[in-house]
Amino acid sequence: MPNSGFPARAASYLSGGRERARGTSRTMIAAPLQEHTSSPPAGVVILDFGAQYAQLIARRAREAHVYSEILPHDTPWSEIARRNPAAVILTGGPESTLGADALGVDRALWTSGLPVLGICYGLQLIARDLGGKLAPSAHSEYGPAALQTVATSPLFDGVPATSRVWMSHGDTVVTAPAGFAVLAKTRTCPVAAIGDIGRRIYGVQFHPEVVHTEAGTAIVNNFLHAVAGIPASWAMDSFVDSAVTDIREKVAAGGRVICALSGGVDSAVAASLVARAIGERLTCVFVDTGLLRKDEGELVVAAFRDILHLDVVKVDARARFLERLAGVIDPEEKRIRIGHEFIAIFEEEARKLDDVRWLVQGTLYPDVIESKTPASKAGHKIKSHHNVGGLPEKMHLALVEPLRALFKDEVREAGRVLGLPEAIVERQPFPGPGLAVRVLGEVTADRLETVRAADAIVTSEIEAAELSPRPWQYFAVLTPLQSVGVMGDGRTYANLVAVRAIVSEDGMTADWARLPHALLERISTRIVNEVPGVNRIAYDITSKPPATVEWE
Ligand code: XMP
Repeated sequence: MPNSGFPARAASYLSGGRERARGTSRTMIAAPLQEHTSSPPAGVVILDFGAQYAQLIARRAREAHVYSEILPHDTPWSEIARRNPAAVILTGGPESTLGADALGVDRALWTSGLPVLGICYGLQLIARDLGGKLAPSAHSEYGPAALQTVATSPLFDGVPATSRVWMSHGDTVVTAPAGFAVLAKTRTCPVAAIGDIGRRIYGVQFHPEVVHTEAGTAIVNNFLHAVAGIPASWAMDSFVDSAVTDIREKVAAGGRVICALSGGVDSAVAASLVARAIGERLTCVFVDTGLLRKDEGELVVAAFRDILHLDVVKVDARARFLERLAGVIDPEEKRIRIGHEFIAIFEEEARKLDDVRWLVQGTLYPDVIESKTPASKAGHKIKSHHNVGGLPEKMHLALVEPLRALFKDEVREAGRVLGLPEAIVERQPFPGPGLAVRVLGEVTADRLETVRAADAIVTSEIEAAELSPRPWQYFAVLTPLQSVGVMGDGRTYANLVAVRAIVSEDGMTADWARLPHALLERISTRIVNEVPGVNRIAYDITSKPPATVEWE
């Protein structure tokens, strides 16, 4: 992908160019830089028709060590070709291909000679564009089905003759286009997979990207490696090297670079990459909002100042945030005020530095996709997520966003390659507005103290339980409710704390974690005994959707 950024840069990154730690003689980053002399790995372009699972397809490709990029379905061919992909995947989508204005692709795809895998809507588009026949199904089909392969093909190599797949579709292919063989069927879907082995174009009616499709990983891997011939060469160390080169090129014009550290893994990894590229020109600003978890501020400053030897400015803004939040109970109002205050403080700090021209942001790939793909264009705003988004325009700063191509788990992996402490790499996600959105109702110093103490118990107990896998996020929420209790012989009328623990891949959807009862009991007993003013604990058993992860 010569023009798409980092894989191409990996090829030209030959020298290593280690940075010295600020003010010390040791190498700042523990992992050695690798030399890359081979050609850049070619990747797969995923054309999105508004699929719920587009990100999952990208993940499966990355897991197969193939670089992947999601583009809107109507991306002009010139844009796709510029990325020089080795294959194209067409996603599913909520629409029907049978409508007059059904979504399509630039037809140059069909004569490009590139291998194509169409999934669900993608299969139907192959049938429609290449001369097959489609019809609305008598019954929409959702959920598991038994797939039977009926012909051999590289796509189904190693896939059992019968295996469980996940279906979700309304229309069905009735006749495959000329040159295509039917490769698999289910009881209700006679054309569940088709392929033109010579042209390397395949389509499947089911979803190989979801975990419920037993042979899904094998099918995606077969397409990428056996059919398209893409080597499994996408790796995190090559990402780190090429990102460092990219950053150097980007900020070559000079000027200082600033970064807001939040304590989270994204800003930590983004800052570390920039530090490795141009360490001396980077200043990290850490704003102690007073809305952080127990010991969080100290951990962040220690990690960046003492371990990574970065220039960290710590601002104690606890009183300012409390003042701005006094009397505010509306969640959106809280979020907005916190965002504005944060920007004001950050701006004040930046003004104290000379010639600041760049701002580092830990934007991840899901954020990039969300703002670009058809599925999200019509999306509703649920919450004003807090980040430093208002800053670049206000301060005329250019953005450095080294994580724009990564998923969260890849960010953690990059953090490890960069030698960040596990306490930061493994840190659970934490919302920008911090504990303010976990104190329902008014945020006061006392109420923050209550939620912080309860949260520390939830966190330490869940981590001590060494669950496998560990929930994605786990925390305490201070509700605005009081209830009657009895302690000793006396009546109490005190606060209700809710405990939330979720399993998730990316925070976009989530299920509540089935924590062992003994663990829940320990958490409950400890909170009511150790946190003053709390006499009752509730466990949140809602998934997202319909709830969200945070309560505000
Ligand atoms: P929700 O509550 O929207 O949360 O279901 C999804 C994920 O996002 C985190 N979250 C935020 N992260 N700024 C952030 O950087 C925010 O304002 C924010 N609000 C929620 C939340 O913790 C979960 O991981």
